[in-house]
This record gives sequence, structure tokens and C-alpha cells, in this order.
Amino acid sequence: MNRVTNDILYIGVNDHDLDLFEGQYIVPLGMAYNSYVILDEKTAVMDTVDKRFGDEWLGNLDKALSGRTPDYLVVQHMEPDHSANIALFMEKYPAAVVVASAKAFTMMKNFYGNEYADRRMVAAEGTELSLGAHVLQFIAAPMVHWPEVIMTYDRTDKVLFSADAFGKFGALDREDPEGWACEARRYYFGIVGKYGAQAQAVLKKAAALEIQAICPLHGPVLQEDLPYYLNLYNIWTTYGVETEGVAVFYTSVYGNTEKAVRILEEKLKEKGCPKVAVSDLARDDMAECVEDAFRYGKIVLATTTYNADIFPFMRTFIETLAEHGFRGRKIGLIENGSWAPVAAKVMKGLLEGCRDTVFAENTVKILSSVSEENLARIDALADEMME
Ligand code: FEO
Repeated sequence: MNRVTNDILYIGVNDHDLDLFEGQYIVPLGMAYNSYVILDEKTAVMDTVDKRFGDEWLGNLDKALSGRTPDYLVVQHMEPDHSANIALFMEKYPAAVVVASAKAFTMMKNFYGNEYADRRMVAAEGTELSLGAHVLQFIAAPMVHWPEVIMTYDRTDKVLFSADAFGKFGALDREDPEGWACEARRYYFGIVGKYGAQAQAVLKKAAALEIQAICPLHGPVLQEDLPYYLNLYNIWTTYGVETEGVAVFYTSVYGNTEKAVRILEEKLKEKGCPKVAVSDLARDDMAECVEDAFRYGKIVLATTTYNADIFPFMRTFIETLAEHGFRGRKIGLIENGSWAPVAAKVMKGLLEGCRDTVFAENTVKILSSVSEENLARIDALADEMME
């Protein structure tokens, strides 16, 4: 049994059978659904797990309780990867009380047909729950990642239960070769990224707390080097630049657009660009491309004109960025078109609503294949991206 502190035990589960998390994200390292139990004069269970793991989770809880009966089930977030086993728990422990926000109880009724009117405690910003030595303080965290979300601060052990925030893709029984940040960034920008302002508001509240451990609903418990994680979250939630360099995203049908991209990549490297990250939007994981766009301060988009529009993967990519609040970046454009190129115009139009974006003056217009004139333009674009 994993202990977070002397009184807080981890009782979550690992999922290696999931094809797509939330119906869209690949999880090559699996997924963890975290749950915790706080043992005191009263006992509180923090969230449930995905539906398929109800029995395993109750087994973990059983072991952690060593014969005791839980008093509270705190439901911080109603998304079913965490809430699916509320009924199973409430049936097994008929004296337990559910603690959740008012909005969460409405969702509970809508999802599972029960809002536990006679067995509930409504938690709002500042509500406290004493378990004996431990006092839990609830923090409203609307839109991180749904409107009903609360986080929970254990004032005694100085532990922040952070719901989806500080989560990452990946099961906990498998080492992530890339460390924490890569899959945490992909998770954040894919799932919470649209709500940077709301996440930043909660971070500000958390800044007033002394925190010794962060217990998210996915990914590892964070106990060491907390400033590292808090700093990354501060950058991400403010749409700041995490890494200096240029991220280049392309689609290419016959390799001509890719050729221009590879020439640009070489030019940028020659000119001393600290990092050039190139992604093929048709073949690379879209969520990874999205996180890269938010990671770097400058991006280049290269695509073909297609059905008087742009290649579908590029359209999806730009729409996803815009929907997630993409902003504050310098953007270079490379378009290709054999008879009526419109890709640059379409890309610009799709990015119109993105705040504080600046377009490079040197748009590269390829007419089927890379020409001598294009080479000079690519060089000028590289210079501009290095400014
Ligand atoms: Fe892990 Fe928004 O649920």
C-alpha cells in the first residue's frame, strides 16, 4: 500500500486496456485513475475510479481501511473516469456521506440517477470538514476541468488534492522514459488547456497555501521539487513560452511541401535556432502537436491548398489550437498550390481570433515544387523567425 503521508494512502488503479482516453487521446503508457483515503477519527475517500475498475478499487480501499468503515466519499470531479463507482461505494457503505459541490450533485443525478439528498454534504469555496486531526478545506475550481470541480486541501498534512490539475497520461506501474513534463503537458493542453484563466485563478489560491504534496487524479503524487511543477503550470496556464525555438507543422501530399519544411529546418539550425521541432500532422499524434504549438514561442505552418481550402489535418490542427485559446505567438506560413493557392489565406483566417499573434511577413508560396525563388523566401522566413 502506497503511503502519501502517515494518514493518507493511495488506493488508485492502473489501466493498460484503454484504447483512447476520453475517446480521443492515445495512452501508450496506460492511464492511472487515482484515489486516496485519509485515515483519522473519521475516514474520507477521495474520488472513485473508472467503471471497469470498481472491484479492484474497493479491494484496495478494503485493505487500506483494515476493517474500518469509511465516513465520507469526497467527489471532486464528476467526469466518469472518477465518478463511475459512486453508487457501488454508497451501496457497500450505507452510512457514508458524499461530499461534493452543488453542481456535482446535479450531475450525479443526471449521470447516475441519484443525488443522495439525505446522505450528502455540499461543499463550496472555503467549506471545511474535520476528520479529527485532519481538517479538509475545499477550494472551488470551476472549469479545471468541468464546472463542478472542487479541490481539497488537507491543512494538517499540507496536501493538495488537485483533481485533474497536475495530472498526466500514463499508468503508475510503468516508468515514463520521458519524465513527468511531456505527458503532463500533452494532458494539460489537450484536456484543460482551453481554461487557462480558470486554472491560473486556482493556482493563485493555491499559492497562499503551504503545500508539501500534490495528489492529482491522474499521474504520480508530486512530493519533491514542487516549484518545478508549479512553475510549469504557471507557464502553461498563462500561455507562456516554455522552450525557446521554432515548432514547424506540415502536411505534404507528394513531398514538395515537406521539402520546403526540411530546407527551413536546416536554415533555422544553421542560423543557431536553439530547437526546431518538426511534426507531420497526418502521421504524428495530434495532441502531441498541440502541446508543441503551446510549448514554443514561434510556429511555422506549411500545407497544401486542397479543395479550395487547406489539407484536412492542418484545418483540424488550427481549429484545435484556436479552440484551446492559442495566443501570443509568432507564426510563419508556407503554402503550396498547383493552380490556385489559397492555403496561406485560409490559415490566416482560421487564426484570426487568436489573441496577440503576429504573422511573419515572408510567406512562402510554392507552386507545386520548391523553386529558386522559394529558397530565397525560405531563407528570409528563417531570418524572421530568428528575430
Ligand atoms: Fe480525469 Fe476531467 O477527468
